[in-house]
Amino acid sequence: MANVTFSGPTLSKNITVYAVAGDNGTLLAVAKANNIVIPFQCQDGECGSCLIKVTHLGDNAPKAIHLTDKEKLTLSVNGKLSKELLAKTEVEDMPPPFRLACQYIVRDEDILVEFSGEAGVE
Ligand code: FES
Repeated sequence: MANVTFSGPTLSKNITVYAVAGDNGTLLAVAKANNIVIPFQCQDGECGSCLIKVTHLGDNAPKAIHLTDKEKLTLSVNGKLSKELLAKTEVEDMPPPFRLACQYIVRDEDILVEFSGEAGVE
């Protein structure tokens, strides 16, 4: 069970939901299921609309460390994933702060998800 806390200007306060990890659900799907409106368009990792900032909470090592190739490319093109951050992700298993909600698979860990409510803006 993962605690996912959403924080954004469209919410009157932060909302924490319990997500079942391991069912391959994306963060965007978790948000939708809980009526939390994160902007999105393609839902396929290509447009960058669902840009979010994810902070891993707790002392355990982050688990959601895998970025899809589309996520890497779209974040890079939009200036949200530098070569240094990508190397850190791939070599040290330290995920970058900015992610795409439609590509992020929820794992069994507590996270804070920040979004702006504007497409492509964290
Ligand atoms: Fe297009 Fe996520 S909705 S990249």
